[in-house]
Amino acid sequence: MSKKDKEKRDEMRTDPDPHQNRWCALPEPYPGPQVLRPNQYYAMLLLEDYAGTNGEMTAITQYLYHHLTFEAYNDLAELEECVAIIEMHHLELLGQTIQLLGVPPEFRTLTNNRANYWNASYVYYGNNICDRLAADIAAEKTAIQNYRDHQYLIGDPNIKQLLERIIKDEEHHLRLFSEAAAKYCPGTCVTSTTNNCFGPMGSMMGNGFNGMMGGDSGR
Ligand SMILES: [Fe+2]
Repeated sequence: MSKKDKEKRDEMRTDPDPHQNRWCALPEPYPGPQVLRPNQYYAMLLLEDYAGTNGEMTAITQYLYHHLTFEAYNDLAELEECVAIIEMHHLELLGQTIQLLGVPPEFRTLTNNRANYWNASYVYYGNNICDRLAADIAAEKTAIQNYRDHQYLIGDPNIKQLLERIIKDEEHHLRLFSEAAAKYCPGTCVTSTTNNCFGPMGSMMGNGFNGMMGGDSGR
């Protein structure tokens, strides 16, 4: 490791919460993972957020893939990379909590005691900038809804608080992806069956991502 790398690493180590200081995270501290007592049911719910179809593992790999494909558009590539890193922090916090609840944090869900392991087909790979951004916006919306549902079902105040902090990041990501879509895809509709179009001010009209645009136009 070079001297410069070591200095950088040491700088990061003295930062009490390096992730909250990334520009794509909300500048608020994360509560440390804590639980009242082990609880298998709560762990099962959190495994959905961790390694389910729309969980953090999917978000990390999808945004990293989009980061790689957006290399010609620096601002988009940086956005996808930064958000992927924050999602990795969410994955870590959820994994530590699942462990405290008494369940090994393997990358799988446990529904009716049946293990369903995460796999790369959960990722929306996409064809162009607009359908990828639409999928990222839809992913954030789904994540927020899932976290809200689980917050309601989980009685442990420590976990509720952690999910609240994660939701704030996801809402921030939703704003950032929506702004990017308004810049690169103004007026673009991403499905022919429902009215899902990017508004001029960064809003997405309609219910979210339900389909995809045609071939790879580069946008
Ligand atoms: Fe997340």
